[in-house]
Amino acid sequence: MKRKGIILAGGSGSRLFPLTRVVCKQLLPVYDKPMVYYPLSVLMLTDVRDILIISTPEDLPAFEHLFGDGSRIGLNIVYAEQPRPEGLAQAFIIGKEFLDGAPAVLILGDNMICAQDLTHLLRQADIRKHGATIFGYRVKDPSRYGVVEFDENKKVLSIEEKPAHPRSDYAVPGLYFYDERVCEMAASLIPSARGEIEITDLNRLYLKEGSLQMELLGRGTIWMDMGTHDSLLEAGFYVHTIETRQGLQIACPEEIAFHKGWVGHEIIEEEISRLGRTDYAGYLKEMLEDDLAHRGRRVPQSE
Ligand code: G1P
Repeated sequence: MKRKGIILAGGSGSRLFPLTRVVCKQLLPVYDKPMVYYPLSVLMLTDVRDILIISTPEDLPAFEHLFGDGSRIGLNIVYAEQPRPEGLAQAFIIGKEFLDGAPAVLILGDNMICAQDLTHLLRQADIRKHGATIFGYRVKDPSRYGVVEFDENKKVLSIEEKPAHPRSDYAVPGLYFYDERVCEMAASLIPSARGEIEITDLNRLYLKEGSLQMELLGRGTIWMDMGTHDSLLEAGFYVHTIETRQGLQIACPEEIAFHKGWVGHEIIEEEISRLGRTDYAGYLKEMLEDDLAHRGRRVPQSE
């Protein structure tokens, strides 16, 4: 069965108050597009086209308004409510019906990952049919995150949630690949002391049975959870820097869908007229012109 994707975009975003008092965190602007475009693009680069977006009952309509059924970007997007933030692994309780026995990839709606070899890493994780894959990313302040300890062969030794004394400098980004047993595994979890079904506990179940794999996001990779005012600004600057320097978009779903052959000229043209006189529309227009002229100037975003 083909892998399906879940974007978890719930929570009150209280760490970003007052910014998020009335606007959902995952829809805040990150330079030139809504935050959720970044994790969505990661799923698209994984070749996942069936996507469930989970958010609060208040915010869900805004996501529906933004993406509709997803067909404009070659996707099939459905939506589900998470009434209360009761843990990341709850995505697999809420998403059980949607997954319907398919393997899954979960990405947090505030996570941005940009890497030269990202498509390759995603493929590595996607082709693994048994068990789970997490990623490791070196950070200065690991105790803010899930932390993974591993040996020289990248074999996972332990994984802990926000440990006071981290056993490594490697944080676990909010991108997780699971086999078709994930809903069953998640259902067996007991809420932690803070009353949440922890993703780290789910990963520990896979670790215990010896089927938790890890891929390292190497030097120069950007991973950010855009959950603080500083990281939000830094992510925006990063996108601005790359886009203005290279003239290439980061996380442009229309571009990915077009290059993957999921949508054709007509759909993109409709999108261009919807976007009006913006740089984003201009970019898409140029992409179509390039395609027609076969100039091959633009390298597909997946490479
Ligand atoms: C969550 C996870 C943590 C992970 C992080 C990545 O933490 O619990 O393991 O490293 O996301 O963004 P939260 O951001 O909910 O505190």
